[in-house]
Parts: sequence; C-alpha cells; structure tokens
Amino acid sequence: MSEVDAGYTSTAAFFEDKYRRNPDPWGFATDPYEQQRYGAIVEALSGRRYRRAFEPGCSIGALTERLAECCDEVVAIDFSATAAGEARARCAGFPQVYVACGSLVDCELDGMFDLMVLSEIGYYFERDVWQGIVCELVKHLEDGGTVLAAHWLGVSGDHRISGDEVHEVLLRSSGLEVVHSERYSAMRLDRMVKR
Ligand SMILES: C[S@@+](CC[C@H](N)C(=O)[O-])C[C@H]1O[C@@H](n2cnc3c(N)ncnc32)[C@H](O)[C@@H]1O
Repeated sequence: MSEVDAGYTSTAAFFEDKYRRNPDPWGFATDPYEQQRYGAIVEALSGRRYRRAFEPGCSIGALTERLAECCDEVVAIDFSATAAGEARARCAGFPQVYVACGSLVDCELDGMFDLMVLSEIGYYFERDVWQGIVCELVKHLEDGGTVLAAHWLGVSGDHRISGDEVHEVLLRSSGLEVVHSERYSAMRLDRMVKR
C-alpha cells in the first residue's frame, strides 16, 4: 500500500516501516530544533516534580528520558515495536520508566496520573477520534493534574488535523483549563490543569 494512503499513514505498520528504514526519522536525538523543543516542554513543566506521567507516542524515548528526571514514574507507549524497543534501551538507566508497545486508540490505562505529555501525537487522528481519546485521558488524570501539549504547526501529508486543531480539542475539553501558552512560528505549547 502507498504511504500517501490516508488510512495507511495512521497505522502501526506505517510507523514501524519508517523506523526500520531510519531508526530516528525525525532526528529526535540529534536535531537542535528538537532539543530546543524538549527544553521548552521541560521548562513549561515549571520545575515541579510529578508522581506519575503518561507519554503516548514516545517514539525512541528522547523526551521520555527528560521526563524521567522530574517524574517518580513514567508510563510511555508507542505502537511501533522498533521505536518502543529503542525507547526502552534509551531509558534503561531510569528504573521508573515503563515503555510498552501499544496503540493509544485502544490502550487501557491502569490507574491515575498527575501528568500527561502529548507531544507531536494528536494530529495522527481524525478530530472525532482525537476528541474521544482526550476524553478517556482526562478520566485518568487526577484533579489538579497537568496536561502538557506541544505540536508542530506545519503541514504534513500524514497528519489528519492541524496542530492548532489538536490544541483546540484539548482546550474545549470539559475539565481542562489552560494555565500557560507559548506560540512560535513552528510549534505551540499549552499547559492545562484539570479543574
Ligand atoms: C512524531 S513522533 C512523536 C514522538 C515524541 N512524542 C516526541 O515528541 O519526541 C509520533 C510517534 O507517535 C507514534 N504513534 C502514532 N500514532 C500512534 C498511536 N495510535 N498509538 C501509539 N503510538 C502512535 C508513532 O509511532 C511515532 O513514534
């Protein structure tokens, strides 16, 4: 099947193939833009410590290992087995990090979290699917818990909705109140709290 097929670009097979061809397709471990982006995300977490974080679409774990430094526990998932394996290896020095290979659409979250980090993941879903995912995620967020969302604002053939739409869905979701926002030419970042 062609990579431009809208259905295929949302599948685990599409991403798995991407990682098999290039172990770090977006340059998450090396690209200066990505390092700055991760720096902005960690900075926006405002220097506090979190009890339990969920990071869906963790890729090779480049952000996961940064989150490990401010979280007592990090649960990360990616539906590419190759990416999840690489994330596990990268975070091997952090016993509080658990990386699973699984899909955000049908993952059954166990227990409650006080932090959810949604970085470059929301635009791989149709708007209604993303809305449903956000609704489920909020159920597993403690009162007073934080959602940190950061998405690229560019256009890509494998995105189903734009970065702005990803954040609009989050900001309109009942229970989440935005407490901090940053916007750059390339990306936007919002920190929300569950009220
Ligand atoms: C652009 S990367 C983002 C990586 C990471 N969040 C970051 O900001 O560095 C998107 C990742 O999401 C994963 N992904 C896409 N759809 C997914 C889904 N439905 N369930 C789990 N992982 C998914 C892909 O395999 C890919 O590794």
